[in-house]
Amino acid sequence: AAAQRQQRATLTEVLARAAAAYGEELRKSPRAIAYLKQRGVSGAVAKRYGLGYAPEGWHKLAGVFAHYDDPLLEEAGLVIVQPEDHKRYDRFRDRVMFPIRNVKGECIGFGGRVLGDEKPKYLNSPETPVFHKGRELYGLFEARSAIREHGYALVTEGYMDVVALAQLGFPNAVATLGTACTPEHVQKLLRFTDAVVFSFDGDAAGRRAARKALDAALPHAQDTRSFKFLFLPPEHDPDSFIRAWGRDAFARHIGDAVPLSRFLLDAASEGCDLGTPEGRAQMTHHARPLWSALPEGLLKRQLLGEFASLAQIDAAELSEFWAQAQHPAP
Ligand code: CTP
Ligand code: MN
Ligand code: MN
Ligand code: MN
Ligand code: MN
Repeated sequence: AAAQRQQRATLTEVLARAAAAYGEELRKSPRAIAYLKQRGVSGAVAKRYGLGYAPEGWHKLAGVFAHYDDPLLEEAGLVIVQPEDHKRYDRFRDRVMFPIRNVKGECIGFGGRVLGDEKPKYLNSPETPVFHKGRELYGLFEARSAIREHGYALVTEGYMDVVALAQLGFPNAVATLGTACTPEHVQKLLRFTDAVVFSFDGDAAGRRAARKALDAALPHAQDTRSFKFLFLPPEHDPDSFIRAWGRDAFARHIGDAVPLSRFLLDAASEGCDLGTPEGRAQMTHHARPLWSALPEGLLKRQLLGEFASLAQIDAAELSEFWAQAQHPAP
């Protein structure tokens, strides 16, 4: 265990050294600076998030670390070793770098964006002993005091969403790292606040992400907590929206965000014609796993009533029906 702690410490030291080097490279790269400028990123917010630039070239980190063949560089996800010939090269090349920090502020990984339209648009650190994608939230370290002050957290999909929101008045934003929002993400946020607003992209992928976030939030939806879902126009994500329409327009969207109860009712009813007995029966089947995932409490009791009235049956009867063990797939 002591050896493991030591290894983690060394990995975060290596990552911190790389983050500092990428930061210096950004200051020396007019191209990368121009890219960030063109996206509206201010120097202040670039500094807050420690943005950097990984230069072009296959072995640039050889100029940063004394031993390019140190296995720690590979373990940290900074260097890739080819299995065939054991040749090494830098993972991140010619990309704008977003250091990912844990809640202690240690750099645990990176996201890197191409400056143009090449694919993949983003490259992330691999899973390492210090970096677990499904657990970490980008920007949580930077946002945590703002989350407490504002009284809620905003959860987005992307690095640039966090950066743009912070710059334009919402420093309480975090992002899932290109993965679905997990119950672990929600758990982590709940250490700082009882209120979460999910703000995903307006496109189909963003709506799917919202649906997954609903699943992640349901088991945590105690009566004292608030989960809301903000839906942007299909052509926008939080970054593009706030840059196009401004802070007040985004604040209005937050005000209009749909509470978990509404989203839950809509999700259960999706594709069901509630004007027909068939549609109401189908909705009742869809609703069961969603409702069951809720913790015991008044919200759950309220929603039983809501579902019962949508289904046009008695609440006690619905509860009894849902409690029956076997349900065939509708
Ligand atoms: N993502 C990723 N790998 C990709 C594409 C996306 O890891 N190839 C993750 C990144 O964290 C990204 C997020 O998913 O920020 C959301 O993806 P997308 O909406 O496509 O990107 P944006 O953040 O909007 O990127 P940008 O505004 O820079 O184009
Ligand atoms: Mn999350
Ligand atoms: Mn998207
Ligand atoms: Mn975007
Ligand atoms: Mn996006």
